[in-house]
Amino acid sequence: MMTEPQCREIDRLWARKTAQDNAQLPESERHRNLAPASAEFIHALAAGLGAKNLLEIGGSSGISTIALASAAQQTGGGLVSIEIEPVRQAESKETIARLGLAAFVDFRLGDAAEVLPTLTGLDFVLIDCEKRDYIRFFDMLRLASEGTVVADNILSHHLAGYVAHVRSQSGVESITLPVGQGLEITRHR
Ligand SMILES: C[S@@+](CC[C@H](N)C(=O)[O-])C[C@H]1O[C@@H](n2cnc3c(N)ncnc32)[C@H](O)[C@@H]1O
Repeated sequence: MMTEPQCREIDRLWARKTAQDNAQLPESERHRNLAPASAEFIHALAAGLGAKNLLEIGGSSGISTIALASAAQQTGGGLVSIEIEPVRQAESKETIARLGLAAFVDFRLGDAAEVLPTLTGLDFVLIDCEKRDYIRFFDMLRLASEGTVVADNILSHHLAGYVAHVRSQSGVESITLPVGQGLEITRHR
């Protein structure tokens, strides 16, 4: 389980996101974050699997970063967090430091397309970036055997193409869960 301070930070970030949505701010001024229920779920899944080598593509201001860094702390592993937007990542860094999780996160600022080729042996990956990049980035992943990939926004953004793509791979089992905005959980056997 995540700690109370970690859950409080997630609630704070989510409350800001929903306030921005309700105020109908321009897209560029709104934070896009993983739903708290999805954060709890990926935390429990990654920790339960004992995942040590974790990655998120699209860290933004950090809800998923808190969830996965907390899992990494429990498994004795580490999280690589890729984000292309510097202000969002700076905020996430500050939150992670305040929660005492900095030792478990390797922040990479840049385009995931350039960072992914440098990463291998991934046990657990969250894909939460631009939807047009999901299939391309999934195909670039170098997973450990039995690695797990979670993709967000499957139901909210009708990502049937991504679902069909991952399910067409050999040695893969995959399921869509109606948690938050919809998660596709894909496990390599
Ligand atoms: C939906 S938000 C991520 C939310 C985050 N996972 C959370 O829980 O708060 C998507 C993020 O992906 C980032 N992004 C989009 N394309 C990217 C790319 N090619 N490489 C790295 N980050 C990218 C965006 O800047 C944005 O902050």
